[in-house]
Amino acid sequence: MSWAEWADAVEIEPSIYASDFSRLGAQLELLHAAGAKIFHFDVGDGHFVPEITIGPVVVAAISPLTRGWGARLDCHLMVSEPEKHFEAIAQAGGDSVTFHVEVSHEPARAIAHARSLGLGVGVALNPETPVEDAVAAADGADLVLCMSIHPGYSGQAFMPDALDRIARLREALPAAVRLQVDGGINAETARAARNAGADLLVAGSAIFWSDDPGAAHARLVDLVTEPARA
Ligand code: DX5
Ligand code: ZN
Repeated sequence: MSWAEWADAVEIEPSIYASDFSRLGAQLELLHAAGAKIFHFDVGDGHFVPEITIGPVVVAAISPLTRGWGARLDCHLMVSEPEKHFEAIAQAGGDSVTFHVEVSHEPARAIAHARSLGLGVGVALNPETPVEDAVAAADGADLVLCMSIHPGYSGQAFMPDALDRIARLREALPAAVRLQVDGGINAETARAARNAGADLLVAGSAIFWSDDPGAAHARLVDLVTEPARA
């Protein structure tokens, strides 16, 4: 399985971390009906990021739904020892793992490990991390995730510096490597991130904290796919 097979277009990925967990299945179903194909799943360990978020038991609860729809669970590991968790994510039905370059000493080994488990794989970088570090680590990965906030929680403002970092990453990475942006993506920022070169846009609060998450998703899809205006 690879990202190239799942996502041949620009995608808006709802970030489950911002969902109403008391109605998680229903919310995912609604977004599937609205056209979402890839769901972003944030694992935080209380160490790499201060927050403890959600983990493999929740992946196991929802992967039968997403798999049944032919959708994907894209797992962003905001954790200090990501490789320790690859197997649990795979067994729970996750489809990919993205680990942070700041905590990866042997990215090539981590990428090979994820592949051996049948997972897609990505390399993430924080706002202060040189883009060159991620480019060097991404050899053989499906995607690079450029954080446009400090990772930890949903609802933060997009950091404008991310646009230049996205453009530099797009320039330096092979065309086959997808470029994902995560943090503060909403109706005001999505198009700029897309124009800078991102083609996988994660959106948490802009979708789940709106009155109509399905319509919010569709609106973001329209914004990033409509032709550029002169
Ligand atoms: C936060 C997570 C994000 C978060 C995005 O660290 O990695 O995926 O849910 O939420 P918004 O879109 O609200 O910034
Ligand atoms: Zn994330």
